[in-house]
Amino acid sequence: TIQSEFYRVLRLPTILVGDSNLGGISTTLSSYESLLLRGYDIPIIILFNNENYKNHLFIEKYFNENQNSSIIKPKIFDIQLPPKKDEYNDLVNMKNYFQSNDENFNHVTDELEECNNNNSNNSNDSHNSNNSNTSDIDTPDTPSLNEVFDGSASWWTQGLGHGNSKLTLTASYASGRYGHVLFPESINEPSLSLSESLLDGVGKNWANRVFYSDNGSTAMEVALKMALIKQSDDVELSVLGLEGSYHGDTIGVMNACGPNIYNEKVSWYSPKGIWFKPPQILMKDNKYRINNIPKTINNNFDGFDSLTEIFNENRVEKDPLSYHYKQSIENQLHHYTNQGYKFGTLIIEPIVMGAGGMIFVDPLYQKQLIKSVRSILNIPIIFDEVFTGFWRLGKQTGAEFLKINPDIAAYAKLLTGGLCPLAVTLSTEEIFKKFLGNTKVEALLHGHSYTAHPIGCLVANTSINEYPNLKWIKGNENEIDKSFSLWDKNFQKQISCLPKVNGVFSLDGGGYASNIAKIFNEKLSNLERKSIDDFGIKTRPLVIKKSIYGFESFDDPAGWSKIYNKMYLCPNNNLVAAFVVEGVKEICLDYWIYMDINPVDASSSILRVTNIFYKLDNGF
Ligand SMILES: Cc1ncc(COP(=O)(O)O)c(C=O)c1O
Repeated sequence: TIQSEFYRVLRLPTILVGDSNLGGISTTLSSYESLLLRGYDIPIIILFNNENYKNHLFIEKYFNENQNSSIIKPKIFDIQLPPKKDEYNDLVNMKNYFQSNDENFNHVTDELEECNNNNSNNSNDSHNSNNSNTSDIDTPDTPSLNEVFDGSASWWTQGLGHGNSKLTLTASYASGRYGHVLFPESINEPSLSLSESLLDGVGKNWANRVFYSDNGSTAMEVALKMALIKQSDDVELSVLGLEGSYHGDTIGVMNACGPNIYNEKVSWYSPKGIWFKPPQILMKDNKYRINNIPKTINNNFDGFDSLTEIFNENRVEKDPLSYHYKQSIENQLHHYTNQGYKFGTLIIEPIVMGAGGMIFVDPLYQKQLIKSVRSILNIPIIFDEVFTGFWRLGKQTGAEFLKINPDIAAYAKLLTGGLCPLAVTLSTEEIFKKFLGNTKVEALLHGHSYTAHPIGCLVANTSINEYPNLKWIKGNENEIDKSFSLWDKNFQKQISCLPKVNGVFSLDGGGYASNIAKIFNEKLSNLERKSIDDFGIKTRPLVIKKSIYGFESFDDPAGWSKIYNKMYLCPNNNLVAAFVVEGVKEICLDYWIYMDINPVDASSSILRVTNIFYKLDNGF
């Protein structure tokens, strides 16, 4: 780890010792800028008073003339040049030098102390906010190492850790290199190369076109427009979807979801679709069970022992559920079309429905649904991969689990690794062609001021190239389940057997390897934490269901660990967590702790430890 990354987490006011020789102005200013764009505050620059060049005067003038209201203006201290090296009198000379400059050095330390006090006052003020539910977090690696654990990976956006310097440098470079120019009829290089990467990545073998927007809701809004307009320019069509789905907070996509708490108070909400009840998989008493299936089938169904069985492709032919799913889906489709419904699209979140409650849908059901909708209605299929896209579940997309391609798909969140907003909607050529024409109205007239902003596009290029480079541990395909989850089986089994727990599942498709996590876990096993106040937590329990879940940045290696009775469980000291426990109220009288640590040098004592702490017996 280079020093500028290593010390960053301390968030201490920093003194830059500039260069007072020939060429020193540019070295000093470029060092200053380089620290600035890694997030350092530099209230002080010290320069030696070199009579020949007087760099300090220029630099002082420069900062006076180039004040930036968002950045602390550094004070420039000029200090007398130390005496030339003299082999015989060095000790005496230097002693005299320090004595005669004592006052100057005191000024510097006073200034530094004041900055530090200001910093801690600010952070105290912010934590005394009137609203106790609101915490002011400037970065998870806050001063004095009072870390806050980002338990939901900032709404599932974080991929490479907070303050990842590659992303920061990319964003800084892009902001200097590219100006924002409106996107219609113009293009910028980062958006072009990002499109190529996406079509070769998440869109491989099916997508031909990329449409840019700013957030997941809009990417889905665009997807919806694409599909509905493709099917009809003039008739108002309904959508097909799954109960419990969530596609964002704009009115169009809200109307594409069934009633839920997100739309309950919106008077404009007007549901335009039919939502099938999906069979949900959860492990209970050490068996994966499926709810929402008829009793007659359930009575003869002993549950699945493994995820490998659940994702087994032969289920299509062998599983008795396969026939039931087909019948039930097709009966409903015929029923609704006979009633006069005209459907324009089927929208699904592949495998896991996120905001609606972390619902793990039986993949066989989703596969059958898509198959039946394609054969009976022949309408475009939209995959909402805003949450599942870019390795969140251990595979590049949710579609990879299903081994089915959509006609349109939306991605956001991990696309930019949590650094800045950007979203994309990918489509096939066939969808794209619908919007070609001689008049403007035939185009897909959906654009935003910041569409395809080069900062977002370049950051996305960096983050999606980084994910595959992380040291993923892939489970051995021959070992049951290891290619789907590295979670400790006994750990899951234990939870699934607790009487008050409805069920549990984990999907992470392997994990990210880390020696640091190993060392950290060793330290952890010697820890004794008694109070919930010992830990800083920032997480968002899902309001819809009483479920807790854990996600984290991929390269903040971590472990969910049980430390009660000094016991902890962690899958091979690495993980990309996608972990859900449902019905957590009164799970047990334990505390659970969730940690992640900064990928700093393992030998260092400055581990940024972040924790989450839930007292589960209190519920939420
Ligand atoms: C599946 C899904 N679709 C769409 C969205 C909306 O994305 P955004 O919050 O970026 O608008 C979300 C957000 O959580 C989501 O999980």
